[in-house]
This record gives sequence, structure tokens and C-alpha cells, in this order.
Amino acid sequence: MKISTIGCGYLGAVHAACMAELGHEVVGLDVDERKVELLARGEAPFHEAGLPELLRRNVDAGRLTFTTDPSAIADCDIHFIGVGTPQMQGRYAADMSQVDAAVQTILDNTDPNREEPALIAGKSTVPVGTAEAIAGKVAESGKNLLVLWNPEFLREGFAVKDTLEPDRIVYGLSEDVAEGEKAREMLDECYREILDRGTPRLLANYPTAELVKVAANSFLATKISFINAMAELCDATGADVTKLAEAIGHDDRIGKKFLRAGIGFGGGCLPKDIRAFMARAGELGVDQALTFLREVDAINTRRRVGAVDLVTDLVGPRLVGHRVAVLGAAFKPDSDDLRDSPALDIALTLWSRGADVVIHDPQAGGKLKEQRPDLEVVDTIEEALSGAEVTMLLTEWKQFRELDPAAVKSIVKTPVIVDGRNVLDPRAWSEAGWDYHGIGRGVSIW
Ligand code: UDX
Repeated sequence: MKISTIGCGYLGAVHAACMAELGHEVVGLDVDERKVELLARGEAPFHEAGLPELLRRNVDAGRLTFTTDPSAIADCDIHFIGVGTPQMQGRYAADMSQVDAAVQTILDNTDPNREEPALIAGKSTVPVGTAEAIAGKVAESGKNLLVLWNPEFLREGFAVKDTLEPDRIVYGLSEDVAEGEKAREMLDECYREILDRGTPRLLANYPTAELVKVAANSFLATKISFINAMAELCDATGADVTKLAEAIGHDDRIGKKFLRAGIGFGGGCLPKDIRAFMARAGELGVDQALTFLREVDAINTRRRVGAVDLVTDLVGPRLVGHRVAVLGAAFKPDSDDLRDSPALDIALTLWSRGADVVIHDPQAGGKLKEQRPDLEVVDTIEEALSGAEVTMLLTEWKQFRELDPAAVKSIVKTPVIVDGRNVLDPRAWSEAGWDYHGIGRGVSIW
């Protein structure tokens, strides 16, 4: 099939490469010339495991091209929309301007005399009601296009695997049976190889498919904030939240995953998705149904504030001039994404209050240097730790998890460690002479 992906960010670029890997002829369209230039050479504009190999292989095979020229999508059978829906400045709602522009681009570049329908398959995370509105716009235009919503559940760091081996695929289809059936057939053909492996495929109407995505992200965010709330209780009582999470996780109904307490969730999805969901619920007159998400968001923010307060207590009463080593800037390991990163947020707050902050991140460091030349970003763990009065582990990169407390003790000025992701062994660090502070994690012999 001939396919376009509109938007070549984390979602679109990975989807384009994966669709080419399935054997389709793919053109990726984006307005960002620098990004397109890199992708067209088979280079990934961001860090994502396995993506560079996939890009190179498919660009070299001639199946995968990238362009800023919208006319290149004219003869495609399927147009995937993978543009961003960021949070609007100063508001909870999602900024839908990129989705609107993508739809307009498809309409403008679809031949009015097209005989076979082309399919618009939306992948971006959108407020419920978007697919219906797009279908209305398409109908008005008279162009031979079908609309389907196909939410994406990929995690950064596992994006290629999550796209080629998803745990489920959801199609949101038109209530017009003939249109819905035709759209389903077209996407089935595109995903044939994945579906033939027995991947569950759920058919639903538009609003269900749109809600599945935000409901899933809200549930994940709630799990994280739940365990972070328990961490507050643990801090107040000397209990250990990691043990607590393990113990409750043995119950299959609860499960072990996404119960890692720490400085909370960040990134380009969870924070803005729960806020946009609350905003949409308000518009629909059912805001009460989601007021609990306000608390989820508040607990999450409190973890960041708590980490700053902890450092203030440790070096206080004032932060000015105290050297703090920050290990990690990305919102999670195996990613160079700095969007709404708890690690960076904490580092910036400490810095803005006068602390002498030095940051090291194995992947996001270069990007951070470019974005914030005013910060002290260093290339090695040793440089970061040198002379530190407090060391904070804020993104759980493997190289930080594996630090030898005895070996690094001589580099710092004062051996005080804040384990913002609860990934270090409190006893080992304490025994090596460090003053260990986890999140909801008292040092215990048990
Ligand atoms: C998330 C969803 O997992 C994915 O399904 C969706 O498509 C996009 O949003 P992603 O943003 O890549 O994916 O990151 P994820 O791995 O979910 O982590 C989100 C944040 O939660 C990170 O900051 C991570 O550090 C934090 N987290 C995760 C915790 O604090 N504790 C946990 O137990 C799990």
C-alpha cells in the first residue's frame, strides 16, 4: 500500500519507519525542515532504540521517504495523522491546531475525482469527538475519504517494539456500516502481518476509540500517583513503599507494574493527557467524573516540590551556593525527551533558588546544553559528582543504578544521596557511609 504519515515526531517517525518495515511505500510529511532532512538521510532526530537501523534500512530500500511538500501525499491509500496535541499555553485543553492543519492538508491534496476512497487514520491523542468532527468536515468537502481512529499506545524507549508488536489494536469506526467496513478492510490490509500474529483487534465507535487512549493514560497516571500517595504515608511512618508495592502487586488484580514511587510522571503524554481529559469532561458537562484526576495531578506535582524541600532541609535553610549534582534530566531512562520532565523541573527549581546545580544525562545532555546554555551540563558522572554536597538520582539510567557507592564517595564533598526513583539499595549506600534518602523508603534491616 502507499501510505503517508503526517507529523514526524516520536509517534509519526516511528510509525512511518515501521509501516515501511512491513513492506509499504511510505512518505513522511512534516513542516520541520531540519527534522525532514535528518529523517530523509535515515537519521533519527531523537533517541529511540532500534529506530536508526529501521530508518536506514527502509530509506536505503527506497520504501521510505520524508518531505515537507504536501503534494507528495496525493496518491496515498492511507494517511496516518501523528501530529502533536500539546497542552495549550495557560490552559488544560489540548491545542488541536496541528490536527486541524493535517486534515486540511489531506483535503487539499486529495483529487476531487478520486475513484477509490483513501483512508484518514488518526493516531494522535485527541479530545473525544474529534473523529466525528473530522468525518463531518470530510463529508462537507465531498472528497472520497474515509475516517477511522486508531489510537497509539507506544511508550518512548520501546516505540518500535510497541508499534510492530502491539498488545492490542483499536479501530474507531464510522456508524455508517459500509464506510466503517471499508475503512476496517483497508487498515486490516495495512496491518496484515501484525494481525496474522494473533494481535487482538477491537472494533468500536469513534468516541470509544478516542476514550480508550485517554482512559489508559489516566489509569496509568492514577496508579503512579496512588503509590506516590502511599509513599507520603510511608515517609510519615518509617514504612518502605517499595516493599509495600511489591506486596500489593502480588495480587493479580492490582499487578506489579507502574507502582514505582518516586518523583512522579512526566513526558509528552501522561501530564498533558490527563489535563486535556479533564478539560474535555468539563466541556461535556461531566467534569465531576474526572475531579479525581486533579488529585492525581496534584500528588504528582507534590513529589517535585517534595524533592526540592528535601534538598533545602538537607543543606538549608538557604540553597544559595550549595552544590547539587543532578543525575538525569530526561523524563525517563532510554529517552532524550525533556518534555515536562520531573528531573529537569526539580533541577531548574533548585537552580532558580540559587543552588549551584550541575546536571549529567547520558542522552539528553547534548539537547539540554543547546536549549539551556545557561545551565551547567557536564558529560560525565564524575564531573557532576565532583564537590557535590547533595547528589540526586532523578532519572534511573542503568549507569546510575549501577553506581558503586564506595567508589563514588571520594568524589563528592558530602556523601548525601537523594534517590528520586527508589532504584538504589538503601542499605548498601548507608553502609558505604552515605546519608541515603529515598521516596517513602526508610532504611530498614528488613
Ligand atoms: C506513556 C504510556 O505508557 C503509553 O502507553 C502512551 O502511549 C504514552 O504515554 P511514555 O510517556 O513513553 O508512555 O512513558 P511511561 O513509560 O508511561 O512513563 C511515564 C512517566 O511515568 C515517566 O516519567 C516515568 O518515570 C513515570 N513512572 C512510570 C513512574 O514514576 N512510576 C512508574 O511506576 C512508572
